[in-house]
Amino acid sequence: MGFDAGAVRAQFPILATQVHGRALHYLDNAATSQMPRQVLDAVVAHETTRRANVLRGVHALAEAATEAYEDARVALAGYINAPDAAEVVFTGGTTAAINLVARSYGALLEPGDEVVISAIEHHSNLVPWQMLRDRAGIVLKALPVTGEGRIDLDALESVVTGRTRLIALAHVSNVTGAVSDTARVVAAARAVGAKVLFDGAQAVPHGAVDVQALGCDFYAFSGHKMFGPNGIGVLWARAELLDAMPPFLGGGEMIRSVTLEHTSYARAPHRFEAGTPPIAQAVGLGAAVNWTLALDGEGAATHLRRLTALLLDGVRDIPGLRILGPEGLQARAPVISFDIAGLHPHDICTILDAHGVALRGGHHCAQPLMECFDLAGTTRASLQVYNDEGDVEALLSGLDDARARLA
Ligand SMILES: Cc1ncc(COP(=O)(O)O)c(C=O)c1O
Repeated sequence: MGFDAGAVRAQFPILATQVHGRALHYLDNAATSQMPRQVLDAVVAHETTRRANVLRGVHALAEAATEAYEDARVALAGYINAPDAAEVVFTGGTTAAINLVARSYGALLEPGDEVVISAIEHHSNLVPWQMLRDRAGIVLKALPVTGEGRIDLDALESVVTGRTRLIALAHVSNVTGAVSDTARVVAAARAVGAKVLFDGAQAVPHGAVDVQALGCDFYAFSGHKMFGPNGIGVLWARAELLDAMPPFLGGGEMIRSVTLEHTSYARAPHRFEAGTPPIAQAVGLGAAVNWTLALDGEGAATHLRRLTALLLDGVRDIPGLRILGPEGLQARAPVISFDIAGLHPHDICTILDAHGVALRGGHHCAQPLMECFDLAGTTRASLQVYNDEGDVEALLSGLDDARARLA
C-alpha cells in the first residue's frame, strides 16, 4: 500500500471547511493537528456505548470503559516501544507531563542539584524547572542555541557536571523544527549518572518514537498534536523511576488504602492519575495511534520532505525573508519559522487567514529563543500528512499578497 495524500486528506472532515469563503489550508499543525474520521468515530462510539467511570465500577459499562481505557494505554506503550504499559502515565498533555516530573522527580532532588535545559525550550519545559528552582533550591542551567536554531550540544561538556541530575530538552523544536541529537545528550547524561527527559511534543507527530532506542528516562507528548483529542497526553518513564517518585496529585484512584491519618499509594501508572481521567480522550488517542500505524510511514515521511523542500524553496528568495532554523532537510521536522523584515507576524497571519491559510505568528511559547534571534516573534508554517502542494501554493501566493499590502 503506497502513500496517497489525497486519500489521507479525504479522511479529515474539517479539511473540507471553508474559511472567509476560501478553501481551508491548515498549516498550524504544530499547534494542533486535525483528527481523522476514524478517531472522531472512536470517541463518539465510546461516549455512546461505553461512557462510565473507570477502575471503580463493577457494572458492565464501567468494565467496558476500563477495558477501553487500559487498551489505549497498551496501544500507546506499543507505539513508543515502552517495555511495559504500566510505564505509560496518562496526563493532560505535554505540559502536565513535564510538571509531573518537575513535581514528583523534583521532590527527590536536593538544593544545589543541577537541571540542564536549553534556550530553545517551549515554556512547558522551562517554567516548571524555574518553579522547582524557586521551591527547592536546585540550579537551573541552559544550553545555548546555534545560528541554525539547534541546541548547541558542544556546550554539554562545560554545562554538565557531577551535580547534574537531569537534562531536559526538546526532541524537536516547535519553532525551528530542528531535531536534537538525542544520542549525544544521553551519552553526556550517562557520563555523570544524570537522567534525561525529552519533550516529544513535536517529535511523536512525525513518526514513531522508540523510547528504548532513545535511551532516555522520561518522554512527554500530547495527543492533540498527533491526530488525537486534546486534554490527553503521555508521560513515559522508566518503571524504577515511577516507583521511586512520590505522587504529585492526591485523590481518588491513586491510592491503595486511606485512613484519616495516612494514605498508601497505588503503583504506577495509577498513582499518578488522581481523579477521573480523560477517558474518551485516551480512547481517541489510542485510535489515533492505530490510525497512524496503518499509514505508509515511509511514504508519509517522503511526502512531507517533498512539501518541506517546496516550501523552503518557495520562501527562500522572498526579499527580506530569513528562515529561523535549518535551511535544509537534514535533521528537521516540517515546522518552518521565518521573519520578513519590516512585517509583523500577526499582520502576515491575518492577511494569510483571509486567503484561508492557517498559520501561527508570535513567540510560540519560546520567548528565550526569540530573544536569541533578536525578534519578538516569527511566522510559522507546520505541515502534516494531509497537506498537499495546494496548501504550499496558497501560502506562497498569500505571502506575495501580504508583502504587497504591508510593504
Ligand atoms: C515542544 C513543545 N513542548 C510542549 C508543548 C506544550 O504542549 P501542550 O500545550 O499540549 O501541553 C508544545 C506545544 O506547542 C510544544 O510544541
